[in-house]
Amino acid sequence: TANGLALTPPMGWNSWNKFGCSVDEKTVRSVADAMAAGGMRDAGYHYVVIDDCWHGPRDENGFITSDPKKFPSGMKALGDYIHSKGLKFGIYSDAGKKTCGGHPGSQGHEYQDALTYARWGVDYLKYDWCSTGTRNAEEAYALMEDALRATGRDIVFSICEWGQNRPWLWAAKIGNLWRTTGDIWDSYSASDKAHWWAHNLLDIVDQNEPLWPFAGPGHWNDPDMLEIGNGGMSDIEYRTHFSLWAMMAAPLMAGNDIASMSPDTAAILMNRDVIAIDQDPLGAQGHRVRDDGNQEVWARPLANGGRAVLLLNRGEAPADIAVDWPELGYPRTIAADGRDLWAHKPLGRLKGRYAATVAPHGVVMISLLP
Ligand code: DGJ
Repeated sequence: TANGLALTPPMGWNSWNKFGCSVDEKTVRSVADAMAAGGMRDAGYHYVVIDDCWHGPRDENGFITSDPKKFPSGMKALGDYIHSKGLKFGIYSDAGKKTCGGHPGSQGHEYQDALTYARWGVDYLKYDWCSTGTRNAEEAYALMEDALRATGRDIVFSICEWGQNRPWLWAAKIGNLWRTTGDIWDSYSASDKAHWWAHNLLDIVDQNEPLWPFAGPGHWNDPDMLEIGNGGMSDIEYRTHFSLWAMMAAPLMAGNDIASMSPDTAAILMNRDVIAIDQDPLGAQGHRVRDDGNQEVWARPLANGGRAVLLLNRGEAPADIAVDWPELGYPRTIAADGRDLWAHKPLGRLKGRYAATVAPHGVVMISLLP
């Protein structure tokens, strides 16, 4: 890692999936309040990240400003407020002349912008890839990483070039996470012509899964932010979303309105058994170990020698899915303590195999400890 940060996948909230360009100070404050009061912070969600469209113009000396209408107190005060809630402050920029939303990008202003963010108390930067022309991605991201480091402040660096330049091959030394795909679309398997650049849940999973060897402490594959609670999927599908992100050691950036989420959404996002898998200190990304068409078995090795196991049913009817120990790298003769991570129940001592009935589009997720 470049900076020693994000030894487990970053967790927090980002404004984009729910609020897009209508993000404002009031929204961010209410989300920060809700994260502190409603348990999200204590479950591990620490970063409050303002995505695109917070910007005003550059001032006469080239320093970036925030939109005075949307952010009347300014970014320093908002950062102080976020910090006062025991949370960390994240912001967004772009390696090109303009952000994807058409606001000023950081190209040619890298050191000046990094300095400004540090003055505002920024702890996390998501750095996008619109309007970059012929720029070389590795150079552009390395330059901003150098600018961030020159501030002397600990700033997690989130690389967002959508997997176009295969960042898993070069970004581990530059950033803490890199997007592996285009934008997530809040749907289990449908696509939408009006959002041709976006990918449904299963598409994202299939693009991110093979990249498992490239992830580790401080440098993570980022299959994009969570859609849980935004309404495009059923709760079963959202549990599948959350489980797969945990199996893939993905950053857990909630993308919904934390201040108005339902108890069902809160229960998914704050499932501590599943969060513990995502945050396992070994930092090994799990992957598919068996693919029987619509029925899949996934495994993730854990720091304690155990395994997280996911039984996934992509089909339209309930399915019986089993995992055999050799698929997990265990001899068949070993016994292991099982725990169901959604039922929050011990499964007792299991020997050689575990089988369960899995709902359509659903998962059964367990941990095993020999
Ligand atoms: C593209 C990124 O992939 C999204 O996550 C979001 O940051 C938008 N740009 C903002 O314009």
